[in-house]
Amino acid sequence: MSITIGVFDSGIGGLTVVRELKRLLPTQPLIYFGDTARTPYGTKSPETIIQYAREDTRFLLEHGAGILVIACHSAASTATSTLKQEFSEPIFEVVTPSIEQALALTRRKIIGLIGTRATVTSGVYEKAIHARLPDTKVYSQACPLLVPLVEEGWLKAKESRMIVKKYLRPLKNQQIDTLILGCTHYPLLKQIIQEKIGKKVKIVDPSAEIARAVYSYLE
Ligand code: DGL
Repeated sequence: MSITIGVFDSGIGGLTVVRELKRLLPTQPLIYFGDTARTPYGTKSPETIIQYAREDTRFLLEHGAGILVIACHSAASTATSTLKQEFSEPIFEVVTPSIEQALALTRRKIIGLIGTRATVTSGVYEKAIHARLPDTKVYSQACPLLVPLVEEGWLKAKESRMIVKKYLRPLKNQQIDTLILGCTHYPLLKQIIQEKIGKKVKIVDPSAEIARAVYSYLE
């Protein structure tokens, strides 16, 4: 019997990960849990996010999941180590493959990260990048207004363009050459993000990266 992939996110944003998983593994059984009742996670305390992530994981396991995918960056940055201690099933999360990809792409070793407040303040990306390549510069920017803009469907609105531009300016000033989209919702704004950060900057879209990691594991 094939193993069921259980994916959770704070809401519907993690469907960007499901879309990629379905593309690579079209016949693999998959359950998705979007915690729309308690979204957003990115504004909550680490303790609350850990508790929610634990409950989400239990829910998926109770419904037959054999592999877990944490599609939510806020949960992945904050709760992965706790979940790995508490559950024996294989756990994939969005942070590790994003970092692998960013390190493979950067030429000048100047990487930018955008995410929710919870993700950025966790410092997990910086720690993991510095553990691999200590002389890499990492500049992080919390972008709390982007999730509501995506939820409103303002994917091409001029207000969204202005807000993206303002958030990205400090990263542009630091001349990053690679930008990690550290939030489930940001791939939906990828076009504007690319336009505002400049076309020479390489963008890491974790939804594709994590799907490839799960695919390699199952293969
Ligand atoms: N899914 C969340 C993340 O990737 C974004 C929305 C939220 O704040 O819950 O961080």
